[in-house]
Amino acid sequence: MVLVPTLQATVTRPMSRQPLDPDHKVTVPDLVAAKRAGKRISMLTAYDYPTALLLDQAGIDCLLVGDSLGMVVQGLTDGLAVTLDQMIYHGRMVARAANRALVVVDMPFLSYQVNDDEAIRNAGRILQETGAHAVKLEGGRRCVPAIRRMVEAGIPVMGHVGLTPQSVRRLGGFKVQRDADELLADAKAVEEAGAFAIVVECVPADLGKRVTQALSVPTIGIGAGPGCDGQVLVINDMLGMEQAIKPRFVKRQADLATIIRQAAERYAAEVRDSSYPGPEHVFN
Ligand code: KIV
Repeated sequence: MVLVPTLQATVTRPMSRQPLDPDHKVTVPDLVAAKRAGKRISMLTAYDYPTALLLDQAGIDCLLVGDSLGMVVQGLTDGLAVTLDQMIYHGRMVARAANRALVVVDMPFLSYQVNDDEAIRNAGRILQETGAHAVKLEGGRRCVPAIRRMVEAGIPVMGHVGLTPQSVRRLGGFKVQRDADELLADAKAVEEAGAFAIVVECVPADLGKRVTQALSVPTIGIGAGPGCDGQVLVINDMLGMEQAIKPRFVKRQADLATIIRQAAERYAAEVRDSSYPGPEHVFN
């Protein structure tokens, strides 16, 4: 039997098995194979155990512990204040819940930009202390030395180009990125440095398709059109938890904000009128 090498020591798979098999753990090589096989990759963010458990059961291929948690969990206006320890705290919960999905943890702002030694140590901490399978970092050509060293050390790296939210102050806001030459050069450099997949955020759809065709590793788009090899969304956006902002690229699959608010209103009313707890909820 011919075996494909895998970065998860306990999992080996026969050459003939289809990638992204619903019954088997998703590995880093599976994602690269998925692109070659023309299979789409589904990814959502997750920040806690119960949500990650449901997403894993639903068959989401990749769970991203994004530093977007600064905004959607901590209530900040961007993710710049999120710390490495906070990412590890959330990463651990998500990795504990994931039975099948590949878990990727974002390296937060300034955890990989200062120097490459610090970057590799911090990436290593994420893998060692969370049990996640890979790290993600933002940036193109400037990140090449750090990515190369991490990959040499056996740390799988997902890249992130286009709109890179950790540079939101330099970019002047969360804006669509239209410079095709910059995007292609960055994505190519990150691929050549050894990244196994690349998130492409907020670029015109034709550019999302172009960069996807130019790479041999999969692209995971967010606001980058249907031409990418996979799609990622922030779970709170997809579930309709976030009410104030709805980016154009988000398709809400539920309206959890309304469901939660209405449930809380009913509960409060029942407590006030003493209809809860009822006889069936008390110990005798
Ligand atoms: O932090 C995050 O959630 C992300 C996604 C938006 C791709 O990087």
